[in-house]
Amino acid sequence: MRILGIETSCDETAAAVVEDGKKLLSNVVASSVDLHTAFGGVVPEIAARSHLEVITPVIEEALKTAKTSWDAVDAIAVTQGPGLVGSLLIGVLTARTLAIAKNKPLYAINHVQAHPYAAFITESGDRSRIKDQRSTTIKASYIFPKQQPRFPMLALIVSGGHTQFVLFKKPLDYKLLGQTTDDAVGEAYDKVAKMLGLPYPGGPSVDKCAQKGNSTSVKLPKAKMDSPYDFSFSGLKTAVLRAAQAMSGHDYTFPSQKLPEALSKAQKADIAASFQDTAVKTLLDKLETAAQHFKPKSIVIAGGVAANQELRKQASERLSTSVIYPDIKLCTDNAAMVATLAYYQSLDSKPSDPYSLEVDPSLKM
Ligand code: KG4
Ligand code: ZN
Repeated sequence: MRILGIETSCDETAAAVVEDGKKLLSNVVASSVDLHTAFGGVVPEIAARSHLEVITPVIEEALKTAKTSWDAVDAIAVTQGPGLVGSLLIGVLTARTLAIAKNKPLYAINHVQAHPYAAFITESGDRSRIKDQRSTTIKASYIFPKQQPRFPMLALIVSGGHTQFVLFKKPLDYKLLGQTTDDAVGEAYDKVAKMLGLPYPGGPSVDKCAQKGNSTSVKLPKAKMDSPYDFSFSGLKTAVLRAAQAMSGHDYTFPSQKLPEALSKAQKADIAASFQDTAVKTLLDKLETAAQHFKPKSIVIAGGVAANQELRKQASERLSTSVIYPDIKLCTDNAAMVATLAYYQSLDSKPSDPYSLEVDPSLKM
């Protein structure tokens, strides 16, 4: 079964074709990230306009790369939410129109639930491509998990908008164990990057800057929560700000916008490394507790922050059940995860009505 996935929840316009929920035939991602860098975060209006400009060529390229004609598409899947309303609308309206015009079943997908399904992709058609902002197509090589995750599967979903633990008993039967009560971990990365004058998105730039720093140089707190599987990252972010102000020789009234000039390269690296170590240890302390308690057959870490090298390194040292990660390019937003989850939905539930499917910007799991 070949499913065309469409994803437009934030600043990536993505389309992909996945066969039987595991074989990646194409993966096209056109990111508008460069257009947002100057603003230090995603500007919703710019993201929506950019989706509108590129969605048709992105879908065409996904089908072409997968050597899949419309006749060979068995279903269309689209992210319904959560996300930015203007961005979601472009994807959902496009998918609805295509489902009606091409007479295909339409599956509505929860973006957050889809993230761990990227780890179910274990094979590649040999023509998979990834597309960058300037629409140059480059050959992408993928490192897939050796085998698909097994159930019960414990998923740690860590992205720019979400940080949560989900226990999947079966593909579509899950329980939310806990989540962040304030900022997502990726959001904390983005905000710390801004304080240090590092480019947006902050995750990769903090990860890189941290490699030259000493992770024990700045003492930072780990939030204590009532529930063992809930998170809080806003206190950590404030603690990083206070430490950075103190290291620059100023007090708490010093504006955060002036910090990048007031800190040396070495100080920035120390702050980045200490923040990253605290964030990673917070995630893994809870993951270890959940793994011991629920004894899952597989653990999956997914979402943008799952691309983090320090997280992967420390997880491999600490967890006895080996952790399964999607390929790095399938950790950040993509449509392959959308098509993969849709495969399981198609086995279990009825498609959505293409005449009435609405976006849901605050869709919950
Ligand atoms: O999953 P994603 O692409 O979008 C959301 O659903 O939010 O995640 C984006 C987030 C951003 O906050 C970005 O800074 C973070 O993932 N991220 C990383 C890394 N690469 C992306 N965080 C830490 N280390 C990375 N290497
Ligand atoms: Zn995401």
